[in-house]
Amino acid sequence: MDIFLLLFGCVLVVLCLAFELYFLYAIFISKNCKYPPAFPSFGKMKKIALAEAEAFLTQADQPLTIADLGSGTGGLLLPLAKKFPEHQFVGYDWDFFVCKILQWRARKLSNLSVVHGDFLKADLSKYDLLLCFLDTKAAEELSLKVAREIKPDAMIISSAFELKDLTPQKVFDAKSYGMPLKVFVYKNRNNL
Ligand SMILES: C[S@@+](CC[C@H](N)C(=O)[O-])C[C@H]1O[C@@H](n2cnc3c(N)ncnc32)[C@H](O)[C@@H]1O
Repeated sequence: MDIFLLLFGCVLVVLCLAFELYFLYAIFISKNCKYPPAFPSFGKMKKIALAEAEAFLTQADQPLTIADLGSGTGGLLLPLAKKFPEHQFVGYDWDFFVCKILQWRARKLSNLSVVHGDFLKADLSKYDLLLCFLDTKAAEELSLKVAREIKPDAMIISSAFELKDLTPQKVFDAKSYGMPLKVFVYKNRNNL
């Protein structure tokens, strides 16, 4: 019995240490918490973002390319890639560990790839649909880039944070767990 307790204690200590180390790594890559952590989409906000993306992808008459900018562990990208094998999905994230988790979760999907790196350095002009769930600072930086680069008829679904340089086509109330969240949908460069 004592040996099991000792083993259990050791496992707990190792897990706590791993978590602490990851926490330090996350602070480092988010430039001292200036950028959002790997936190998955949730509640009504997730449902609305998925429903809007699904409606857009369903009506497509040719294969489309979709990117999640800050894909985390694939909360949005995985269900979409499973449902729409005819479209290509790319997840960008600068967190090495969440990239590995998403790669593992997507191991059976040939239409989902993961890029470990800063999406602000990516070429966004090739995407038909962009998804993001960021924070104020990241959304501000992305907003300018998107306004300059995206295809004229591309769609952007931003959970929780507005892209200030663009004009939303739709804004959804996505109150979840008491939090006053919104989902912003942008479509057509002419609208921006
Ligand atoms: C709130 S999570 C969103 C996860 C996922 N999109 C979802 O909705 O479930 C934000 C993610 O963006 C990533 N991130 C933030 N800024 C980034 C940047 N400039 N380049 C790449 N990834 C970034 C973080 O590492 C984090 O995993």
